[in-house]
Amino acid sequence: AATDNFAPHLLQWFDVSGRHDLPWQHPRTPYRVWLSEIMLQQTQVRVVVPYFERFVAALPDVRALGSASLDEVLALWSGLGYYARARNLHAAAKQCVDLHGGDLPRDFDALLALPGIGRSTAGAILAQAWGERVPILDGNVKRVLCRVHGVEGWPGTPAIEKRLWAIAQDHVHAVPAGRMADYTQAQMDFGATLCTRHEPACVLCVLQDDCVALREGMVDALPTPKPG
Ligand code: ADE
Ligand code: SF4
Repeated sequence: AATDNFAPHLLQWFDVSGRHDLPWQHPRTPYRVWLSEIMLQQTQVRVVVPYFERFVAALPDVRALGSASLDEVLALWSGLGYYARARNLHAAAKQCVDLHGGDLPRDFDALLALPGIGRSTAGAILAQAWGERVPILDGNVKRVLCRVHGVEGWPGTPAIEKRLWAIAQDHVHAVPAGRMADYTQAQMDFGATLCTRHEPACVLCVLQDDCVALREGMVDALPTPKPG
C-alpha cells in the first residue's frame, strides 16, 4: 500500500500546501525548468528566485544563452556560487545549438550527455518540462524515501542508492495522468518544508499511515548518517 499511496497522497498535500507560484512553473518551458534545476542543485529556492528572474530576462532561451559570452553568463551567476554550474550551463547551451537545433533534447541519454546534468536532473527536466514518467532522487527525496520505506544504511552507499532509485521508479507508476510535473515539484517541496532533516512535521503528514519510520520510532534515525 505504501508504494501505491505515495504519489496520490503527496499530490493531495501539494495541491493544498505546495509551492505553485515559482517562476519556472509559469511558463514551465524546458529551458526554464533546466535553468531552475541547475540553480537549485546547491542553492535554496528563496535565494534562486531573484537570480532566475534576472537570468531569463537577460537570456530568455537556449540560443540566447549559447550566443552569450562566458563573462556575461558568469556576471548573471555572480553571488550564486559553485561557478562550474554556470560554465557547464553555457557549454551545454552551445551543445544544444550544435547538436539539437537550439532546443533541449527530449531524451534521457541526450540530456545526461550535457555538462552539468546527472540522472536526477535529467529526470526532473523530463518530468517537469514534458510530463514524462521519470523519477528523481536528490538529497531531499532520499531522506523521504528512507523514512517512508524504513530503508536503513547510508544513502551514499551504491547498494542503498540503487534500492532508492528502484523505489522512486515504482512510485511514478501511481502518478495520475498529467501530473508528473506537479508530482516532481511536490517531492522537492515536501522534503524541503515538511519531512525536513530535523523535526519533521509527522503530526501533519499525509504519509503518516504508510510511514515505516514513524511506525517504528525511527524518524530521527533515518536516513542513516554517513559512517565514520
Ligand atoms: N531542488 C532541485 N529542484 C528543485 C525544485 N524544482 N524545487 C525546489 N527545490 C529543488
Ligand atoms: Fe516524514 Fe514524518 Fe511524514 Fe514519515 S510521517 S514521511 S517521517 S514527515
